[in-house]
Amino acid sequence: MKFKKILGIDIGGSGIKGAPVNTKNGKFLAKRHRIETPVPATPRAVAEVIKIIAKHFKWKGPIGCGFPAVVMNGVIKTASNIDKSWIETDARELFTRTTGLPVWVINDADAAGMAAVRFGAGKDVKGSVLMITVGTGIGSAFFTRGRLLPNTELGHLILNGQNAEKYTSDATRKNEKLTWEEWGKRFNEYLMEMERLFWPELIVIGGGVSKKMDKFADQLTLKTKVIPASLLNDAGIIGSALSVRANRDVLMDWYQSLKI
Ligand code: BGC
Repeated sequence: MKFKKILGIDIGGSGIKGAPVNTKNGKFLAKRHRIETPVPATPRAVAEVIKIIAKHFKWKGPIGCGFPAVVMNGVIKTASNIDKSWIETDARELFTRTTGLPVWVINDADAAGMAAVRFGAGKDVKGSVLMITVGTGIGSAFFTRGRLLPNTELGHLILNGQNAEKYTSDATRKNEKLTWEEWGKRFNEYLMEMERLFWPELIVIGGGVSKKMDKFADQLTLKTKVIPASLLNDAGIIGSALSVRANRDVLMDWYQSLKI
């Protein structure tokens, strides 16, 4: 099996998006395909969508999936914004058996961060890079010299007595009808805390709000350089594909042991 072209899939709360990726340059090899996330987004229903996306591209090679939760050896450990039935589900095995193809599963923010560090805003940065994705939840990915510390979950840090994700996610901005200025002040508090604890060289912002940086950049008073992710929506797909390359030996040993 070749590992240059990998099907990257990003599983999100509203859509599941995939595209074949050339992992040497991060470019899509075909137009991305998006399917609405099924409601309820149970393991079986999501696995069927993964199969449909693989079929759409007539895919016969490895697949990488970004998933919005802590993922340990393919097993989903948390469920902040997803169906609770995912907890302790072996997503790697479920997706692999459903598609018949080897599937690697990684946290969605870790995937987006891998793309940013390899091809996007974080490339060529020698020190540590912190990627923060802001959407329904807040995801984080922490890198030092290009190496990922997986499943950091810094969106769940306690800030002002609250889970940071509840205080300053994009969903909260919409639900509480915060102005960009109000929300930007909250987000600044959060980033200041990141700076105080981690001292990254660069913070990359991903997710929907990264396209709106001009609306809240004035509220950011931290010293660390903060920039929007340049790959925007595609980072999750590209990074999921990259994660397969990075773990191909483990994945293939495991896949062969399944005897599909
Ligand atoms: C989850 C993270 C995820 C983030 C972004 C959070 O609620 O705990 O695992 O990366 O949302 O989807």
